[in-house]
Amino acid sequence: MHNVRQVVDDLYWIGYNDHRTHLFESIHPIPEGVSYNSYVLLDEKTALFDTVEWDFCREFLENLEYVLDGRPLDYIVINHWEPDHAASLQEVLLRHPESEVISTEKGFYFMTQFGFKADKRITVDSGDTLSTGKHQFAFVKIPMVHWPEPMVTLDTTNGVLFSADAFGSFKALDGKLFADEVDFDKDWLSEARRYYTNIVGKYGPHVQQVLAAAAKLPIKILCPLHGPIWRDNLGYILDKYDKWSSYTPEDNGVMIVYGSMYGNTANAAQLLASEIVKRGHTDVTVWDVAETHCSYLISEAFRVGHIILASPTYNLGVFPPMKDFLNDMVALNVQQRTVGILENGTWAPNSGLEMRKIIDQMFEMYYLNAEVSFMSSVDKNGKKAIEDLADAVIESVKKQA
Ligand code: FEO
Repeated sequence: MHNVRQVVDDLYWIGYNDHRTHLFESIHPIPEGVSYNSYVLLDEKTALFDTVEWDFCREFLENLEYVLDGRPLDYIVINHWEPDHAASLQEVLLRHPESEVISTEKGFYFMTQFGFKADKRITVDSGDTLSTGKHQFAFVKIPMVHWPEPMVTLDTTNGVLFSADAFGSFKALDGKLFADEVDFDKDWLSEARRYYTNIVGKYGPHVQQVLAAAAKLPIKILCPLHGPIWRDNLGYILDKYDKWSSYTPEDNGVMIVYGSMYGNTANAAQLLASEIVKRGHTDVTVWDVAETHCSYLISEAFRVGHIILASPTYNLGVFPPMKDFLNDMVALNVQQRTVGILENGTWAPNSGLEMRKIIDQMFEMYYLNAEVSFMSSVDKNGKKAIEDLADAVIESVKKQA
């Protein structure tokens, strides 16, 4: 049975809420699912904006045909060719060979690479327009958000922006189509941040360009390809995107990430957390790097201003899961953070030096003026070093308040 909701006059959501996939892109856990948003416009001409992941094509086609109700499909606008949005194109074209497919030049290259075929094509560039009758559309390319080829499409008649991956989120909608139908701060923000930081986080400068361009457009509604639609309080999500894409900490928080083979480095991390909280700063989170999927750690690294890394020495280097996290921070362009280091080693502590080598690959990273190095377990001297590190954290946190 079809599952469709109206967005505004003439426009319908016909996407799919996926609770079946465990790993998005076969990397990122999505315990609360994800939605693939697709939209249909009914005007003098009809238009489809993007499709859904192949696995959910049957339900999507049922929705499409229900909304079209026997009408031809004049246009298919593909804003983003990643298969979570474009994979069902071929099935749509089998049923609607009358459709003209609209995309960027690079988008059509990618279409061919993925093995899709479309005979009727309209290649568009930034500034090109389309009329479907009552509705007028303008196209704007948004390279590297999050692939090189995407564009956004603005309905200049009613201010609806089909924003591709921008302003998207992990988590299935489950009936709540609009951000104003949920408690976004409480129930969605962490998954929106985890989506942005891990999927688009590397490309902050490109997102900043999109935000600058968007500020000049008459946008009233944001229709992303994942997550809820924004028709109210757009400033909230625009502000989050501005912070994330400029690598500005969202909160004056401290994350303590530890790896621990026998519990001693974990103990040091917990001692540090207690010392910081005792000094009056309570936005402190503690993470076991071996137990936590890296996407959650990256998300928290974007949220906070201070990152404390505690690692045993392993093969004379960094504990492997910690090394993975640090390398992911480099890959996703994490920057402008203050870092503290705790190293542990039983005969040749060296993880601190090796962690610094990776951190030094990131932009504008600052070190606290205290570090901790201990042998095997925290003794009296180690406890004093942890207290000194807590003092340094508090001093730095106060400066950033
Ligand atoms: Fe949701 Fe870049 O695809």
